Amino acid sequence: MKTYKIAAIGADGIGPEVITAGLHVLDAVQKRDGGFAIDVTAFDWGSDYYKTHGMMMPEDGPDQLKPFDAIYFGAVGAPDVPDHITLWGLRLPICQGFDQYANVRPTKIMPGIKAPLAGVGPGDLDWVIVRENSEGEYSGNGGRVHKGLPEEVATEVSIFTRVGVERIMRFAFALAQSRPRKFLTVVTKSNAQRHGMVMWDEIAAEVAADFPDVTWDKMLVDAMTVRMTLNPKSLDTIVATNLHADILSDLAGALAGSLGVAPTANINPEGSFPSMFEPIHGSAFDITGKGIANPVAAFWTAAQMLEHLGESDAASRLLTAVEEVCALGIMTPDVGGTATTQDVTDAVIDAVRGSNL
Ligand code: IPM
Ligand code: MG
Repeated sequence: MKTYKIAAIGADGIGPEVITAGLHVLDAVQKRDGGFAIDVTAFDWGSDYYKTHGMMMPEDGPDQLKPFDAIYFGAVGAPDVPDHITLWGLRLPICQGFDQYANVRPTKIMPGIKAPLAGVGPGDLDWVIVRENSEGEYSGNGGRVHKGLPEEVATEVSIFTRVGVERIMRFAFALAQSRPRKFLTVVTKSNAQRHGMVMWDEIAAEVAADFPDVTWDKMLVDAMTVRMTLNPKSLDTIVATNLHADILSDLAGALAGSLGVAPTANINPEGSFPSMFEPIHGSAFDITGKGIANPVAAFWTAAQMLEHLGESDAASRLLTAVEEVCALGIMTPDVGGTATTQDVTDAVIDAVRGSNL
């Protein structure tokens, strides 16, 4: 029997709560399936670790993670540690160091969740946003000089490389090709940004030639927000730069009724390094410890993890169980329910156990 080695990093705030819930559900999935096993190792890295050790993870953290088949990650961010430290100390070094260049963010309106757009209900917003996850506006390239003086200067220079753009375009076209509509929207801002974004457009057109069965169009990122809101059914697979997709995926989450249920997969498509799976939501310190964190995003990303590991049946069984539980109205307060994290977890475990899939 195949055993997958999973590194679990709950990290900050509600992160450990939803990851614990997700691991219970994964355990039920593995037992229900019977064809594979999951071997979990937990890491206590994050802001508390930082307060004791002065760093978010040990220096050899990435080396420790490398032998795993996948990383299951909670959330980072603490009220008393600057955000750029928590982010650049843990999540980004993993994403960038492990070349997880494809960030995959599916959207769909879960049953029982009220979405804000008129005339749009479950099944209507079935989008996947592919976010470039290794360069662009998140390259960390820049600096500050003359700190604190009136002539202080700061630069934050986006980096677009041909290799980086081409590989994310190929990934996005291939993903679009694998979906029923075979339709990709390439988001850009090449009217104003005449270097990196013009290269981005050119490479999109070059890669498109290798995918003749995929229909594609191009949208300026500002106009894209309008299209997502006013003509959402005209979209399917979407590819955008690191920052553009960051913004658009928040909009997608809001239009689907809740950011609290949205998952994300940080994929290293070549499999040279482990990929990392996490909820999109943050550490939510306001509700930490109250037992009411919504575990759905953590469950959904666990399904993404199973899919990535090649366990497609188990992945769809888990996602179907989550949808069934949402449809029954067993939901946490952030999406209008009264259930606790534990209630939702128990219900999903029951649905997994009873699944006839
Ligand atoms: C996301 C988040 C992060 C990002 C934050 C926490 C830095 O918003 O995953 O979308 O901007 O990448
Ligand atoms: Mg974001």
